[in-house]
Amino acid sequence: MRISMWTAGLAGMALLGACDNAQIRVATPDATRVVAATDIEAGRYLVQITGCNDCHTPRGAPGSPPVPEADSLRGTGVGFYGPWGTTYAANLRLTTANLTEDAWVDMLSTRDARPIMPWASVRAMDDADKRAIYRYIRSLPGEPGEAVPDGLPPGQMPTTPYEDLNIKMPAGAPPPR
Ligand code: HEC
Repeated sequence: MRISMWTAGLAGMALLGACDNAQIRVATPDATRVVAATDIEAGRYLVQITGCNDCHTPRGAPGSPPVPEADSLRGTGVGFYGPWGTTYAANLRLTTANLTEDAWVDMLSTRDARPIMPWASVRAMDDADKRAIYRYIRSLPGEPGEAVPDGLPPGQMPTTPYEDLNIKMPAGAPPPR
């Protein structure tokens, strides 16, 4: 009898453990998104790991110190020149200053513009991540700054500095794949 009470007790504890686990599973968010202490921290983390600064913050000359975070994401006047024409990574401080958070989410969810902006990657983000990025950019100190130059159609040479992203074919090279 004693043994069976023990057994019952253990079974009960196991059941409680199972309930706890079930509760933890229920608490897991349905969507895949970044969770941090604040949305601004989540946005900072997302911007760091997805490389928005690689294009939207000037890189300067090789070896020059990185742009401080407070001055980041104001875009760059160095064009990306390729078969699509020339595009300039926008000043995201200005974009977010001129858009509501909902309009920003809409832009990141629907736009499919020219390279080399990774639109497919931002479209795939959960809306909560898009909102976190918006809140992070809006939290950066200082004035939004100036707009970047307008993009150019294919074939037109830029008058600003630019990176040439056209494929070059050295003599005898196999076709690109
Ligand atoms: C590889 C370079 C590159 C990276 C990385 C990149 N962008 Fe861009 N982005 C661009 C370029 C170039 C444009 C301009 C495209 C055009 O003119 O069609 C642009 C445009 C945009 C625009 C449109 C702004 C406007 O006002 O029209 C948004 C919003 C944007 N990027 C957000 C982001 C975010 C958020 C990240 C990080 C998740 C990011 N970008 C990463 C290159 C990049």
